[in-house]
Amino acid sequence: MRLADKVAIISGAASGMGAATARRFGREGARVVVADLLEDDGRSVVAEIEKAGGTAMFQRLDVTEEASWSACVAAAVAAYGRLDILVNNAGISGSATNDLLESGMWDRVMTVNANGVFYGTKYAVEQMRKNGGGSIVNLSSISGVVGQSMVHMAYNASKGAVRTMTKSTAVQFGAEGIRCNSVHPGLMPPMRTSGATADPTVRAKMLKSVPLGRTGEVDEVANAILFLASDEASYVTGAELYVDGGYLAM
Ligand SMILES: NC(=O)c1ccc[n+]([C@@H]2O[C@H](COP(=O)([O-])OP(=O)(O)OC[C@H]3O[C@@H](n4cnc5c(N)ncnc54)[C@H](O)[C@@H]3O)[C@@H](O)[C@H]2O)c1
Repeated sequence: MRLADKVAIISGAASGMGAATARRFGREGARVVVADLLEDDGRSVVAEIEKAGGTAMFQRLDVTEEASWSACVAAAVAAYGRLDILVNNAGISGSATNDLLESGMWDRVMTVNANGVFYGTKYAVEQMRKNGGGSIVNLSSISGVVGQSMVHMAYNASKGAVRTMTKSTAVQFGAEGIRCNSVHPGLMPPMRTSGATADPTVRAKMLKSVPLGRTGEVDEVANAILFLASDEASYVTGAELYVDGGYLAM
């Protein structure tokens, strides 16, 4: 098993790519903290992992609150004794508004997608230092590299922040054995909070920019996260891995 005995927190693990990653980590021997605002869905993911023979627990987490992060890391350590992996996956979409210059949207998206990753990193680094290292995987996006129509620029800015925070984390904490990399999904199943980008007509248009000619699957992103989280990526840090069917190569 590729994550035997590792302890992993995955934010936003009640849904989508976070849930897929949690299930995969469970199958690979990790003890998984399914951390999310959504308690019922999160507990369902835990039940699935346990049914498949894995080990997991649910922890309510609001990534925008420092106290919530502190409590989440403390709960992981209380249950499993250490923290080896953090996947900063929780996020909200930038396409849930028709007003691309709405100021409130800027605040909401940056607070969840950028502040949330900073706070998660802060509390994970403090704990990982105590066990001599760890691996942080941040969910950025193709939107962290290029701009897009129909997506509020806060989303691009927040994912760009995640992309460069990843490199800051790699540079600042590498000497303490902490690696940090970003994963950049492309056209995936819509997020719970997606607006225009969930529209089939819009998606068909976006698909024309995907060389592989299809939408990605959540398990394809989970595979990339698994590699970066695991010791197989022991000399990989500060890197960005595109899981986008070639979108950014066009
Ligand atoms: N779906 C896509 O097309 C796509 C593409 C590129 C990148 N991404 C990124 O991948 C990540 C996962 O996206 P997804 O498609 O699985 O979305 P999703 O909407 O299915 O899941 C996001 C999860 O984050 C949780 N969450 C939201 N705000 C939170 C908060 N304040 N505290 C704790 N949890 C919170 C939600 O409850 C949900 O379970 C996000 O960071 C997203 O921006 C998604």
